[in-house]
Amino acid sequence: MKNIDSVEALNSKIKRVIITKEEIAEAISRAGKEIDKIYDGRPILLVSVLKGAFVFMADLCRAVSVPCEIGFMCAKSYYEGTVSSGVVQITMDIDRDVSDYHVVIVEDIIDTGRTLNDIVNLLKARNPISMHVVTLLDKPERRIVDFKADISLFTIPDYFVIGYGLDCGEYFRNLPYIAEYEDRD
Ligand code: IMP
Ligand code: MG
Repeated sequence: MKNIDSVEALNSKIKRVIITKEEIAEAISRAGKEIDKIYDGRPILLVSVLKGAFVFMADLCRAVSVPCEIGFMCAKSYYEGTVSSGVVQITMDIDRDVSDYHVVIVEDIIDTGRTLNDIVNLLKARNPISMHVVTLLDKPERRIVDFKADISLFTIPDYFVIGYGLDCGEYFRNLPYIAEYEDRD
């Protein structure tokens, strides 16, 4: 990423906080209970879509009480900056046969819907016992592929957001809150 060569330059890109860490924690606690209710003691496989969902996954897995295994996939759709390439690449596949599992896909944000649509189709073809999708954020205004998550924690307007796992040019994933990105130089 260009023009971010100091802490000041980095901080100047954080326009405003739109979801605080307390709001995130409360929503995750509710989502964990919802997942517990759906599966009612049955074991699940949480599959996180890297890299954006790694922070959400770390907190969500500790908010569920049903027995759970963890898996990761890596998909790439944004290449540097704030504009989607329109091409979804699965760069790392999950390391086990999902046909034995109740699969819960854990995603950071649904934007155009392309990434999750591709991942859900890919995993469904492998015949999991069941599949649910949980997303931290949803930007329905930007949808190109019709896709709806089973559990969505926050619906947001068409802002480009950073923090809590979400990046711009690989920076900002470590912010504890969700903020709107300042697009001006
Ligand atoms: P989709 O395929 O367009 O739905 O985009 C999904 C992926 O794009 C997400 O998993 C994110 O990694 C990334 N993405 C979409 N919107 C944003 C955003 O506002 N900030 C950071 N990453 C985003
Ligand atoms: Mg993602």
